[in-house]
Amino acid sequence: MNLEPPDRNTFNPARNGAHSQKTNGALHFPKGFLWGTAVSATQVEGHVTNEWTDFVAPDGKHCRRACDHYHRYREDIDWMRKLGVNAYRVGIEWSRLQSGPNQPLDPVQLAHYREVLACLRAAGITPMVVLHHFSNPLWVCRSGGWTNPQTVSAFENYVSQLVPALRDRVRIWNTFNEPDTYASCSYLLGEFPPFQKGRLSSFRAVIDHMAIAHRRACELIRQAGSELGPVEVGFSKNWTFFEPLRPWFPWDWFMARSTDRLFNRWVMDTFLRDGRNDAATFQGLNYYGRVRFLHGQSLVPARGRSRHSLAKLGVHCDDMFERHPEGLETVLHELRRRPALPVYITEHGSACDDESFRIADLQSNLKMLHRAIDRGADVRGFFYWSLLDNFEWQFGYTKKFGLLSVDFDHPQLPRRMKPLAEIFRLACTENRVPLHGK
Ligand code: FCB
Repeated sequence: MNLEPPDRNTFNPARNGAHSQKTNGALHFPKGFLWGTAVSATQVEGHVTNEWTDFVAPDGKHCRRACDHYHRYREDIDWMRKLGVNAYRVGIEWSRLQSGPNQPLDPVQLAHYREVLACLRAAGITPMVVLHHFSNPLWVCRSGGWTNPQTVSAFENYVSQLVPALRDRVRIWNTFNEPDTYASCSYLLGEFPPFQKGRLSSFRAVIDHMAIAHRRACELIRQAGSELGPVEVGFSKNWTFFEPLRPWFPWDWFMARSTDRLFNRWVMDTFLRDGRNDAATFQGLNYYGRVRFLHGQSLVPARGRSRHSLAKLGVHCDDMFERHPEGLETVLHELRRRPALPVYITEHGSACDDESFRIADLQSNLKMLHRAIDRGADVRGFFYWSLLDNFEWQFGYTKKFGLLSVDFDHPQLPRRMKPLAEIFRLACTENRVPLHGK
């Protein structure tokens, strides 16, 4: 097989002397570092027909219009230009492109995405394109989704058509977003379609099939190459730390350990087993923080506790998870051992109405990221989740991760920069993070 050679060495800060530095009260990031924002199709585009279309979240809302990014992408690219980002992690929605197994791609939808990618290029923004982010065409869902091994070949067929059609527009591909979250929310926790609970064998089948499909997609992408330069490809693992709040409570210790084993270690091992990740050139990491357990319950606001009551226990959360910036350095260390590929932080962000909390959180995480790079981690970019407040899956529009707010009650869905966006803009435009205030 004729694979495009991997580009693992062209930008290794440790190797080319472009070390991150700490000068003049600022943390400088390596030259050529990618600073981007991230979105996914179902969460921002609107007008999608997939398994989420009929889902109504507890806030009574659905994803049918979302941020209308599908029509407003030019405006959103202008916002990104104002933010000064040089990269954008964006999804292509499979359900728009293929009406059935092995069907040709819809030329109108393909032209749409080609246009979005051309506009990004004109704005000097490098796209990282995500192939699978928590959604599927309905015909895939009807035949059992990713529990069905045939979905692997269906996906392979899709990728084999899509990638060559975009080789003049895309150089960096992200195969799967958080297979771990997708499989657990869909088959263990009953929070994502098809809303099944406790189906461990389905969870395992989904991960197995996605790992095989990941390898095939990497091979196809490397074979196709890109007109824009050496192709890069990898999947994104969510890494959450699971710990007992009181280490001496055996049940909490057991829950934390078994969740970590299944969600982090087993998923990672499955993707690395039998050379399944050998064709990848990078490892994507989505990092939000930590979940701790007390009396068998996870200490997260999303499970009905208030941020305030959790803070009293010493658990400092945004609206979703406990913040744990030190963990970012720890996991980057872990990844240096396996799979030892260059890393992109493909998602990091926080959601809450308190912008000073979010600013402090971003600064602490970037500080940890900088420290990890300084100690030898080969990290090549950071994508903030998210560009816009958007449809946060099972929570509807209640979790606000955006650098920009969206007024969902207004027919024009106007966007506005939040204070955090200014801090992020400085990092993007100056490739450094000021130390003051921390
Ligand atoms: C990640 C998902 C992303 C978004 C953020 C908050 O797990 O990949 O779509 O939901 O969490």
